[in-house]
Amino acid sequence: MKIAYKTPQGIYYQGIIEKALSSKKFDKYKESVDLIFTSPPFPLNRKKKYGNRQGDDYIEWFSNLALLFKEYLAPKGSIVIEMGNSWESGRPVMSTLAIKSLLKFLDAGNFHLCQQFIWNNPAKLPSPAQWVNIERCRVKDSFTYLWWMSKTPYPKADNRKVLVEYSASMQKLLNTKKYNSGKRPSEHDIGKTSFFKNNNGSIPSNVITASNTQSNSEYQRYCKENGLALHPARMPRDLAKFFIEFLTEKNDLVLDPFGGSNTTGSVAESLNRRWLSVEPNLDYISGSIGNFANVPVIKAF
Ligand SMILES: C[S@@+](CC[C@H](N)C(=O)[O-])C[C@H]1O[C@@H](n2cnc3c(N)ncnc32)[C@H](O)[C@@H]1O
Repeated sequence: MKIAYKTPQGIYYQGIIEKALSSKKFDKYKESVDLIFTSPPFPLNRKKKYGNRQGDDYIEWFSNLALLFKEYLAPKGSIVIEMGNSWESGRPVMSTLAIKSLLKFLDAGNFHLCQQFIWNNPAKLPSPAQWVNIERCRVKDSFTYLWWMSKTPYPKADNRKVLVEYSASMQKLLNTKKYNSGKRPSEHDIGKTSFFKNNNGSIPSNVITASNTQSNSEYQRYCKENGLALHPARMPRDLAKFFIEFLTEKNDLVLDPFGGSNTTGSVAESLNRRWLSVEPNLDYISGSIGNFANVPVIKAF
């Protein structure tokens, strides 16, 4: 475990998370992480560059992390894990490994499932190509699950921090205060006044649409200039932003155990949260500095 770099709000450690969380250096963070937000290496059939485990081996490895994560989580803290879909090899059948892994993780940590989210990525290329593009017997697989878990059924959370802009029709309703109230076709009676209150935005749903093509051009430019390969599985900054704003407050501590290009750490920094990330691959760590434009970074490598 080595410090790779520091910023005013955080530290990027080079190493593997199993070792990091078992090391004395990390003792001081126990019971104090407000949000663990991460996208672990996915359970793939074919190995990716960063060496994913497969099958039962993956489930075992992943669920063993639950108790480790729990030790570091603050009593009202949250864990949000994004897990990609995977497919069986050689046939158009989805693998249940991701779901099994999440369930086993939930049970192993004795966590509560606060809510499931879907990340819809409209920019996703058609895949799996064999079944979508060639045999045309499946449609494009374009979403992944995020599971929000916690020790208590009431972790820190405030949806007023993540309100979305009102739609044009809602804005009109607020301006004109004219609404056809009364019973809906479902027999549900809509009160007269509650719709006219301006709450500064509408409550978001648990389907989050975000593409990872935009908004990290600084990162791409930095990697190009420094001859570094782009991380192959970056998440969109908007996804990290949503959960950090929803589930933490200024100065809270956010941990990404599988840091990659450090989307989580850099978004946490921009929102004035403290952060810790861990990643074994020095190339990914080097490239991640590109996510900290205008932030002083002290490198230790
Ligand atoms: C899906 S990627 C995370 C991408 C990241 N969210 C981003 O936006 O760039 C998973 C990362 O976990 C790293 N990794 C694999 N095994 C690890 C381990 N045991 N401990 C820590 N990181 C690991 C991989 O090198 C990879 O960069």
